[in-house]
Amino acid sequence: MIALRPLTDADAPAIRRVYSGATVTSLGRPAMTEREAEDYVVRVREWAAADPVEQYVLGVDVAGDLVGVVKLGRRPDGHGRVSYVLREDCWGQGYATKALKELIVFASTAAGLDSLGAKHHLNNPASGRVLVKAGFTRLGIEDGMIEYQLLARP
Ligand SMILES: CC(C)(COP(=O)(O)OP(=O)(O)OC[C@H]1O[C@@H](n2cnc3c(N)ncnc32)[C@H](O)[C@@H]1OP(=O)(O)O)[C@@H](O)C(=O)NCCC(=O)NCCS
Repeated sequence: MIALRPLTDADAPAIRRVYSGATVTSLGRPAMTEREAEDYVVRVREWAAADPVEQYVLGVDVAGDLVGVVKLGRRPDGHGRVSYVLREDCWGQGYATKALKELIVFASTAAGLDSLGAKHHLNNPASGRVLVKAGFTRLGIEDGMIEYQLLARP
C-alpha cells in the first residue's frame, strides 16, 4: 500500500500540497509556490542523476496518492542523514514510520550506507516518535536539536 518512488514533473502539484499548511509551519518555512514546486522536482531529478548521488528524495505513495517525501543525504564519510515530510491531512496514520522503514532498507541496499543519523527540533516530538519506532536510538541534544542514530541493516 505504501511505496517509495522517484518523483516526476507531474508530481509538482502534489509536492506543493505537501509543503503547505501545518507541515510548513512545523518546518518553520513558508508554503511552496507553484513555481517552487516545479523547480523542486527538477532539482530532485538532477540530484538523482548525479554520480555518486549525494541527495536522494523519494515520494511516499499511498495507493497512487503522493502524501509526502523522504530524504536521504550521503555525507563524504559514508554516513547518511534522513528526514521526512508528510502532508498535513495524512498525519497520524503511521505513514512516516512505514516510509522511514522503507528508506532504511533503501539506504542499506541501493545506497550502500550502513550508518544513518537524524535530528529534530525539541518542539517536534512526533518526529522523534517516528525515529524511535523505526529503530533509531536517541543520542542527545545538540544546538537545540535532538540527535538520533541507526546502524542500518541489509
Ligand atoms: C513528523 C511527521 C513526519 C509525522 O508523520 P506521521 O505520518 O504522522 O507519523 P506516524 O503516524 O508514523 O507516527 C507519529 C507518532 O508521533 C506521535 N505523536 C504525534 N504528535 C505527538 C506529540 N505532540 N507528542 C508526542 N507524540 C506525538 C503519534 O502518536 C505517533 O506515535 P504512536 O504511533 O506511538 O502513537 C509529520 O507530522 C510531518 O510531516 N510533520 C511536518 C514535517 C516534519 O516535522 N518533519 C520532520 C522534520 S525533523
